[in-house]
Amino acid sequence: MKDDHLLGNTNELVSDYLRRTERSRALHDRFSRVMPGGQTRTIVHFDPYPVVLVGGEGPVVRDVDGHEYVDVLNNYTSLVHGHRHPEIAEAVCRALVSGTAFPAPHLSQLELAEMLCARYPAAEQVRFTNSGSEATLLALRIARLATGRPVVVAFEGGYHGSVPELADGGTDLVRVRYNDVEAVESALGPSVAAVIVEPFLGSGGVVPAAPGFLEALRARAAAVGALFILDEVQALRNSFDGMHGSLALSPDLVLVGKIVGGGFPVGGVLGRAELLAYTDSRHPHALSHSGTFNGNVVTTTAGVVSLRMLDAGAIKRLNERAGVLAEDIESAAARAGVPAVVSRVGSILQVHLAGEYPTAAANAGPVEGRALAAVHLALLLEGVYASPRGMLNLSTAMTDEHLGRVTSGYERAFARMRDVVPESVAAGGIR
Ligand SMILES: Cc1ncc(COP(=O)(O)O)c(C=O)c1O
Repeated sequence: MKDDHLLGNTNELVSDYLRRTERSRALHDRFSRVMPGGQTRTIVHFDPYPVVLVGGEGPVVRDVDGHEYVDVLNNYTSLVHGHRHPEIAEAVCRALVSGTAFPAPHLSQLELAEMLCARYPAAEQVRFTNSGSEATLLALRIARLATGRPVVVAFEGGYHGSVPELADGGTDLVRVRYNDVEAVESALGPSVAAVIVEPFLGSGGVVPAAPGFLEALRARAAAVGALFILDEVQALRNSFDGMHGSLALSPDLVLVGKIVGGGFPVGGVLGRAELLAYTDSRHPHALSHSGTFNGNVVTTTAGVVSLRMLDAGAIKRLNERAGVLAEDIESAAARAGVPAVVSRVGSILQVHLAGEYPTAAANAGPVEGRALAAVHLALLLEGVYASPRGMLNLSTAMTDEHLGRVTSGYERAFARMRDVVPESVAAGGIR
């Protein structure tokens, strides 16, 4: 265990956490012997160490130390119906009996593909992958092949998965500021194969697109002959026909993931048949695109049930309740005397320990970073499982009682944060 973590080992918040999570702490040492940092997913790490989760049901998760948490993370927005929803669990159990993966087309694959094509206006056809990251990789290959051009334009704070070029930078990658139409106009020229963009910055701080921004981007891409790739891996849960449907955008390709697999590993590229045709083995310039588990039975079965339950009414309710939660958390912050705003797109929210809503990538500075870490740890002590960076989202499994627990958890967490990181309050917001 590191001693130099954000909050130091000596403050009361950390001591309470250490005392409460002794089994997780012992297991963390054991995990760390065989897995770097004791985890296998960067985002899971926080100091001093994460709790080890052993179960989840509906809107709650339980840790190995016997504590229960209201889950407002939902495996980073993918579990839109919470944990092991009975209808999904039942369908998956039935599927297990008849075999889980075949090197052949199978019927639940067809059912999910037909459902996606019926529901999402941009989807003339679909190609499945195992993750959103793989969907990004495939879309970039298609874009470069279709246009014969090298450059990809993406956005500061945009996240499209563990894709080397986008995660680590590359010579053919240009990043511009989100919501900056002028920057887009100058970046999009004749060598650009594609622009890849989220309908709102998700991991970048739940920053909504400014009115007209995505439309301008779409128009500029068309004008220079570049593909417009809309990454709806996170956003899809927010509208029945995708954010591209509700905004009447017509992307060439749409990346999907998370909710489409009903809680199991998934990704996919939807879009124009003419472009998806590059993955058709009969195409004269076909890409080789395989994946042992692409469109496997478990994922596609769960995806069909999950999407069916996520109808327009369910999405409306989620979004409305998320709006109420955002207001409640802001009021809780005000009562605790902490400067905070909550940005929201659909049912995904982000708490910013700042005085203003961000309009571009929201990178927490060192003081806000420490304050967010304090709030996160305090929330865990209050029985609320949110993300270390302050993102939260709703599942259809949550009741008003769960939401009430989240709000009161935040209020107490804000009060404790104020004691641990007083300079964040003195600054009247940190950014
Ligand atoms: C917008 C966006 N695109 C792509 C990805 C990558 O998806 P995966 O984690 O399934 O590889 C994510 C994951 O968080 C995402 O939020």
